[in-house]
Amino acid sequence: MSKLRLGILVSGGGSNLQSIIDKCESGYIPAEIAIVISSKEGIYALKRAEKHNIPAVTVLPNKYRDRQAYEDELIKILRNYDVGLVVLAGYIRVLSPHFIRAYRNRIINIHPALIPSFSGMGYYGAKVHKAVIDYGAKITGATVHFVDEGTDTGPIILQRTVPVEDDDTPETLAARVLKVEHSIYPDAIKLYAEGKLKINGSRVKRVSKEEF
Ligand code: GRF
Repeated sequence: MSKLRLGILVSGGGSNLQSIIDKCESGYIPAEIAIVISSKEGIYALKRAEKHNIPAVTVLPNKYRDRQAYEDELIKILRNYDVGLVVLAGYIRVLSPHFIRAYRNRIINIHPALIPSFSGMGYYGAKVHKAVIDYGAKITGATVHFVDEGTDTGPIILQRTVPVEDDDTPETLAARVLKVEHSIYPDAIKLYAEGKLKINGSRVKRVSKEEF
């Protein structure tokens, strides 16, 4: 059986991309990265792909007449590379229902908080960690979820907690959460690649391959 082919969408440094590259190359994740697509030029994530001879392209949203034309280009590239799972790794754009329909239940994202807390429109990057600290929360964490038409509302695959220390800044908290992200994102992709995830409405059930 051919390996699951991943299409990774990025917009920044790509540390989550790196953890996925490393776990695919080590064989921990039974999948291969077919293509990396960036929404920005010259980002470090593209350098990481280049270092590992992974095909990578930059598709700039403002080069297209509208959102659908931009997403049609993404869909065309993903289909050309025979992608079976779309992985959002620090990708900052919200995908439209048009794109979600094209890859229904085959798009996953990682969010640096314990969804449903500190998630949704406006909650991204350092803003998430600042909100956690300002609220006085004692734990936070990271969440891997399927992507649906909402923002951070898709069925949850994996979550892991992280303590919030009294002297934390958004930067120190982000660094601690990122460490956890680099471990649960490969775990979630591995479960998907092994056919061990089943979506039941808003819930994800872990199943043995036979049950799937
Ligand atoms: C991560 O914290 C991720 O949860 C969020 O964006 C950040 C991206 O980091 N969506 P990187 O580009 O993978 O280093």
